[in-house]
Amino acid sequence: MLKILVLVSGGGTNLQAILDAVDDGTVTNAEVAAVISNNKNAYALTRARDHGVDAQCISPKDFPDRETFNEKFLEAVDAIAPDIIVLAGFLVVIPAEMIARYRNRIINIHPSLIPAFCGTGYYGLKVHEAALARGVKVVGATVHFVDEGTDTGPIILQKAVEVQEGDTPEILQRRVMEQAEWKILPRAIDLIANGRVAVEENKVKIKEEEQR
Ligand code: GRF
Repeated sequence: MLKILVLVSGGGTNLQAILDAVDDGTVTNAEVAAVISNNKNAYALTRARDHGVDAQCISPKDFPDRETFNEKFLEAVDAIAPDIIVLAGFLVVIPAEMIARYRNRIINIHPSLIPAFCGTGYYGLKVHEAALARGVKVVGATVHFVDEGTDTGPIILQKAVEVQEGDTPEILQRRVMEQAEWKILPRAIDLIANGRVAVEENKVKIKEEEQR
C-alpha cells in the first residue's frame, strides 16, 4: 500500500481528485496518509479533514528563518514516513535536503506542457495568462518528479487541452484542471503505486500493465 503525503497551499481541487480516485478505485494500492499546507486558510485542509485525513499547517511565517522552517518541515515529513510526496499546488520551495532524501519520490502537477510556461514565476493563473498572451492553440498539464530545479525533473505524464476562442485565464485554468490535472495526477499515482514507473537516465519509463 503506497503511503501518500500531499502538500497543498490553496483550494485543494487536485487533492480532492486524488481522494476521489482512491475512493472510486481509479487509484489502487495507495492511501492518502496525511496533508500538510503552508497556508492555514487553505480550503485543501478542510477537504482533507472532511475526508478524515490528518491535516496540519506548517508555515514559514511561524519560524524565525527559512532554515529553521526547512528543518521542522522535514522533521514533520519524516515523521509521516511517506512512500511518495505529492505537490498539489504547493507554493513553498522544497528544501534541497528533502529532494535528496526523497529522490524520485516527490511528484508535482504543473498546469502547462513542460517545457512551455514553466520555471520561476510560472504558477497558478500566471501560467494561463502567459499561454494566452503567446497565442498558443494547445496547453495542458504535466506530472513530473521534483529535482533541484524548478519544474525540471523527469516527466511522468502529460495531457493536452485545446485553447478556445474567448478563453480568459480563469476559463482556461479551469479547463486544464478538469480535463488534464485532475486526470493525470491520480493516474500517475496509480502507476507508481502499481510499480509501473521507472526512471532511467533521467527519463521516465512506464511499464506495460501485467496481464492479469
Ligand atoms: C492548480 O492550478 C495547479 O495546476 C497548480 O496549482 C493550482 C492548485 O490548485 N499546481 P488546487 O489547490 O489543487 O485546486
